[in-house]
Amino acid sequence: MNQVDYLRISLIDRCNFRCQYCMPEGAELDYILQQELLTNQELLTLLKEVFIPVGFSRFRLTGGEPLLRPRVVELVSAIASLRETQDLSMTTNAFLLSPIAQDLYNAGLRRLNISLDSLDPDTFAQISGNRGRSRWQEVWDGIQAAHRVGFDPLKLNVVVIPGVNDHEVLDLAALTLERQWHVRFIEFMPIGNDQLFAGKGWVSSADLRQRIRDVFGLTESSVRGNGPADVFQIPGAKGTLGFISQMSECFCDRCNRMRLSADGWLRPCLLNETGQIDLKTALRTGIETAELREKVRQLLFLKPEINFKQRDSGTTGAYSRTMSQIGG
Ligand code: GTP
Ligand code: 5AD
Ligand code: SF4
Repeated sequence: MNQVDYLRISLIDRCNFRCQYCMPEGAELDYILQQELLTNQELLTLLKEVFIPVGFSRFRLTGGEPLLRPRVVELVSAIASLRETQDLSMTTNAFLLSPIAQDLYNAGLRRLNISLDSLDPDTFAQISGNRGRSRWQEVWDGIQAAHRVGFDPLKLNVVVIPGVNDHEVLDLAALTLERQWHVRFIEFMPIGNDQLFAGKGWVSSADLRQRIRDVFGLTESSVRGNGPADVFQIPGAKGTLGFISQMSECFCDRCNRMRLSADGWLRPCLLNETGQIDLKTALRTGIETAELREKVRQLLFLKPEINFKQRDSGTTGAYSRTMSQIGG
């Protein structure tokens, strides 16, 4: 069984963007009520008394948009200071990043994955919900700030949508020529916006690699990250190119993660919620943490089987929630 030691923690299900592929403008989402969010204290209790003893040591903070969480720097600092934390990272849209990048780094955050779906402010505005052209600049400033502060690795996530941003793939790949960044192309999944998916479809990683190879050349990198990305490099480039191919491949056999939603549901897999556990209610009703450890261990044991069954049968049962609700 693959070692599952990586917990993705959603800090909040809200977002200041409305990416078309995730939580499109106008979509009616049932936001988690304030009192239903895990508090910092509850989250730390779960980490210290449940997840760490069970073997988790790597944590990624996600959302929605994690920087919307009040007192996020304080929380980063508390998680980073746990002796057992070996890796602490965040996935963000970077809109609010620039002014607090240094504080996050000082608090102990080291790795950042930032969504950047376009280099063109108009296309960016269109994808992220038409909330003003200037948003691209704020995000770009956030990326520059993260670079200056020294986040390493710095990964940029691009969800590729045919006819919307796939014409920018070469320009986005070219960012790695002179910068030690990791640009990752993600196959668009039918989570969050089925209609857009049905209308536009998706581009395979193999197709994107061919387009890039034809222009720049491409070699497979010996580096393998700790996530689902296959890593390549343009010869001579400083950075790398990653391809996350959840539509064309099945990487469940190397899955090393579980997901904790902002309201405390632990789910074994992005695409399947079978067996998920309501840890918040358990904590609030006074269930012993020893019992919770046992439940989590059982879920760990079930995890690969759940993944494979789910993929093989082609069923989902998961698309009822968006990435912003599950935690990207
Ligand atoms: P690191 O390798 O630790 O940097 O993390 P990562 O690449 O998994 O993190 P990130 O939050 O940047 O995730 C990028 C994208 O990968 C997500 O938005 C998903 O599209 C996809 N992804 C991540 N984890 C899973 C998973 O468990 N299953 C599937 N199907 N897709 C995933
Ligand atoms: N398909 C692929 N990736 C998605 N994300 C959100 N929705 C989708 C989707 N439908 C990813 C974004 C972002 C992270 C938070 O979730 O790339 O990096
Ligand atoms: Fe927000 Fe990220 Fe979803 Fe875009 S992809 S709406 S930035 S959670």
